[in-house]
Amino acid sequence: MANKMFLVLLFCFFFTFYLDLIFAKEAVKGVRPFIIVYDNGTIVRDDAIRTDPVVPPQSTPDPITGVISKDIVLDPYTNLSARVYLPSLNHTSKKLPILLYFHGGAFCIGSPFSRLDHKYLNRLTSSGKVVSISINYRLFPEHTLPTAFEDAWFALQWVASQSQRLAWTEPWIATHGDFSRVYLGGDSSGATIVHNLAIRASLDPLLYDLHIYGAVLVTPFFLGSGRVPLDPPNYTQTPYYRVWPYVCPHCPHGVDNPVVNPVGPRSPTLRRLAVEKILVYTAEHDPLLGRGVRYITGIRGSGWKGILAYYEGKNVSHVFHVSIPDHPETQVLITRVGQFLRA
Ligand SMILES: *[C@@H]1O[C@H](CO)[C@@H](O)[C@H](O)[C@H]1NC(C)=O
Ligand SMILES: *[C@@H]1O[C@H](CO)[C@@H](O)[C@H](O)[C@H]1NC(C)=O
Ligand SMILES: *[C@@H]1O[C@H](CO)[C@@H](O)[C@H](O)[C@H]1NC(C)=O
Ligand SMILES: *[C@@H]1O[C@H](CO)[C@@H](O)[C@H](O)[C@H]1NC(C)=O
Ligand SMILES: *[C@@H]1O[C@H](CO)[C@@H](O)[C@H](O)[C@H]1NC(C)=O
Repeated sequence: MANKMFLVLLFCFFFTFYLDLIFAKEAVKGVRPFIIVYDNGTIVRDDAIRTDPVVPPQSTPDPITGVISKDIVLDPYTNLSARVYLPSLNHTSKKLPILLYFHGGAFCIGSPFSRLDHKYLNRLTSSGKVVSISINYRLFPEHTLPTAFEDAWFALQWVASQSQRLAWTEPWIATHGDFSRVYLGGDSSGATIVHNLAIRASLDPLLYDLHIYGAVLVTPFFLGSGRVPLDPPNYTQTPYYRVWPYVCPHCPHGVDNPVVNPVGPRSPTLRRLAVEKILVYTAEHDPLLGRGVRYITGIRGSGWKGILAYYEGKNVSHVFHVSIPDHPETQVLITRVGQFLRA
């Protein structure tokens, strides 16, 4: 009897061992749709990004919006690049506001050169009548934070330098851009970047003349420990929450680090936001809706002196305006953001 039991146990042991061998290679702790974490420690970007292919810029006017675009390198040392957009000018020499834009993707995925982001920027450039520059900031897993924030700060300084007509002048921005009306815009992690730029601009000097007039944050990627109203019950299981320790492994205080929790115990007062007007656009079914709303109430309660606009897309979720271009709520958003940029 004991012998039989021993054999059964032995069999079970080797069978499990065998299964482990077969599946070990596949064992993953994915933080989809952002990254895949293999048991052997290898981390790769999630393949989902491939469903949104890279598209070239358009040197002839886009048939729908009339916008033209081109790719440029901002910093040959880091290869920081960007796509610049110019709306149809109709022979006017009127200066246009400048939109410095940051795409989303939890600091892991996304690109200014992807089909969906390109489409969104075309529409926004046309609706807002702005010169846009969409930044290809560096991502995880090749880079961890604060690299993306440093690239963003470099990009802001670079735009400011365009007002001086130095050696690296980019004619679309230098000729058509109005440096007294610069907007920071971004969605998801791009909105996190926008917030951090607007805070940093109140502390660090810009090398050249530039006035950050407004900021547009769409479905912002903000986190924090503890619950806020509207957090879904599974908030800490969402990929946004789970991806944070990877993208910012050396962030003290984790999700309460001020770069991702703008209303946390260690965060600088939102009164510091160095812009005159802010538009926050949330989405009804976004798991991060509560965090966006908390940001808005935080700004309101901070004594910040500026104009705060707030909209919520109905029956839509995180970054709907990029991922579902044909959704009626996307058209509404583009119209509203366009109005905000033109005002
Ligand atoms: C870890 O596993 C992945 C997936 O099987 C494989 O592609 C990668 O080469 C492995 N890395 C190491 C260091 O073994
Ligand atoms: C520089 O960036 C461009 C566009 O993102 C990319 O195609 C190219 O491979 C990069 N070059 C290097 C040396 O990293
Ligand atoms: C140029 O004219 C077209 C058609 O009237 C209009 O849609 C577009 O917004 C104009 N562009 C600018 C920059 O004013
Ligand atoms: C969280 O809950 C919502 C609603 O029940 C569900 O749609 C979503 O898939 C859940 N997310 C995770 C990461 O479990
Ligand atoms: C909300 O959107 C879903 C598709 O995402 C659709 O099936 C549903 O009918 C919509 N609900 C309302 C009330 O519009």
